[in-house]
Amino acid sequence: MIYASGVDVGSTQTKAVVMNSDLKILGRSLIPTGANVSRAAEKAFPLAVAEAGLTAQDISYVVGTGYGRYKVTFGHSQITEISCHAKGAHYVYPQTRTVIDMGGQDTKAIRLGDEASVLDFAMNDKCAAGTGRFLAAAAEVAGVSLDEVGPLSLQATKPVRLTTVCTVFVESDVMSYLAQGKKLEDILGGVHRAIASRTISLAARVGIEPEVTFTGGVSRNVGMVKALEEKLNVKLNVSPEAHFMGAIGAALFALEKVLWKKELSPELT
Ligand SMILES: Nc1ncnc2c1ncn2[C@@H]1O[C@H](COP(=O)(O)OP(=O)(O)OP(=O)(O)O)[C@@H](O)[C@H]1O
Ligand SMILES: [Mg+2]
Repeated sequence: MIYASGVDVGSTQTKAVVMNSDLKILGRSLIPTGANVSRAAEKAFPLAVAEAGLTAQDISYVVGTGYGRYKVTFGHSQITEISCHAKGAHYVYPQTRTVIDMGGQDTKAIRLGDEASVLDFAMNDKCAAGTGRFLAAAAEVAGVSLDEVGPLSLQATKPVRLTTVCTVFVESDVMSYLAQGKKLEDILGGVHRAIASRTISLAARVGIEPEVTFTGGVSRNVGMVKALEEKLNVKLNVSPEAHFMGAIGAALFALEKVLWKKELSPELT
């Protein structure tokens, strides 16, 4: 059996998976990236390998992806997270034509052609407006955990209207709504709707075509899934592996490299 790994060093969380040549996921790990990006990769990889019941020597090929992919110093090659999310999403949902990846710092929309080819993609600008970080800031000022914001937002009956999804202003916006006596559920409902609108404008730049697969850590937020589904009027594919999709894509590229000696085209790296 051949084993390969994908290590996705995101701006917020580092994910690693180990897969075998039957394309089965044997181990995974998820840790905060923190300030030391190389160390995050060095920590996440052995955790996934250990969960797979293997040792590092058993892993034939490692592909690094994510914003810190070049810090995966033990990796054999690096591939962009755009290509890896497309690859992972296509593997889990072969009919995927659009991928929405919402991470800690970036939101990306990707349009796929056949065999997970990337036809086009769009990404939010440098600031973290409308991403996981924005939701985390809203959760903090609301005094609830990140796990709670999504479920709470589902209870909104009169969601507030947010004028901006700027992370700098979220604190004062939420506080002023609380001071006005608005219900927390309605504030969080408004927060999710505002992010969904922004995300859909981004995705519209590449053209939204079903099936739409939602990846990245924010896809674990049921409130965000529902807000996007309502605005898009389509059901999203959300896998239990959605947070690991970039790492899975990277591991699939790694397996192709070993099994088929496939050359990676330069535009992927
Ligand atoms: N259980 C959870 N419920 C809700 N949100 C979550 C959960 N776990 C993670 N998140 C969100 O996911 C974000 C991290 O997602 P992810 O790991 O995809 O980001 P990243 O790859 O580090 O960032 P980027 O792709 O922007 O560089 C966090 O900011 C957090 O808001
Ligand atoms: Mg990411």
